[in-house]
Amino acid sequence: MLTKSQARAFFVIGTGLFTIIFLGLTVDTLKQIPHLTKQQNMSAEVIKGKHLFDQYNCMGCHTILGEGAYYAPELTKVYQRRGAVFIDMMLQDPEALFPGERRMPKYPFTKEERQSMVAFFEWIGNVDTNGFPKDPPLGKQFIINPTKFDTEAEANVLEPAHTIKKPEIFDTLCLACHAVAGKGGAIGPALDGTSKTRDPKWLREWLTDPQKIKPGTTMPKLPMSDNDLNALVEYLSVL
Ligand code: HEC
Ligand code: HEC
Repeated sequence: MLTKSQARAFFVIGTGLFTIIFLGLTVDTLKQIPHLTKQQNMSAEVIKGKHLFDQYNCMGCHTILGEGAYYAPELTKVYQRRGAVFIDMMLQDPEALFPGERRMPKYPFTKEERQSMVAFFEWIGNVDTNGFPKDPPLGKQFIINPTKFDTEAEANVLEPAHTIKKPEIFDTLCLACHAVAGKGGAIGPALDGTSKTRDPKWLREWLTDPQKIKPGTTMPKLPMSDNDLNALVEYLSVL
């Protein structure tokens, strides 16, 4: 049993010690913040994007750095997951990207405002969040049947295009609507075996302007560079 004075000493020393540790850790965290957030990249444009994000209450539906509402996807890594073009299109007209599906409102953003928001997402995507969120969550609708390849041979059958590198733009721009090897969205048809039914010339024309080939189609005309177009046609032509 502790005497009364021993108990008091125990309390005072314990409390004091842990207060010091707590303050030390707080100071240490505060010192790391500029480094972790890559403060030097926080340009005026990024700050403007952040203000727009608050002004339009995007957190009413989305979380960012884990904070906000759980109705819509986590946005911390959206830049890495989707890229600038997709985000820009989402901010112009979500309905055009996902006809009849999406519940994200259309906002009256100007081009500059959209650019600021994309800059904000790029900046926040590069903040060192100690691994949060774990894997970029693609959203349930984007992973329909994740295929696990057991053998190299199996992977070759399912992904014959593995010798031709999959263009990065495919994951950011196309995967939201199309699946390959069981992974991706279901708004458009799965693209496995496209090479058997479509030739490169058709693919090129289709990707340049789907409306021209099939008026009324729901596949949007997507902005992409000549390099991206070439890479996609090459990739699809062996798929
Ligand atoms: C009323 C709810 C709502 C609000 C408010 C909202 N969004 Fe969304 N947003 C959604 C939904 C739902 C989706 C997901 C579409 C889907 O995948 O089904 C989405 C998707 C997105 C995506 C694409 C995410 C991805 O991984 O594909 C971006 C980027 C985005 N929103 C940005 C914003 C920004 C910026 C704002 C504020 C200006 C905002 N959203 C406000 C509902 C909302
Ligand atoms: C917003 C959803 C959406 C996005 C994003 C999208 N597609 Fe599509 N895509 C569709 C839909 C829907 C169809 C079916 C169109 C139809 O038949 O009217 C389609 C059809 C196609 C076809 C024709 C398939 C066939 O053989 O008939 C190809 C090839 C294709 N998409 C490639 C792509 C590529 C490559 C990308 C990325 C650059 C892409 N798509 C992005 C929705 C999308």
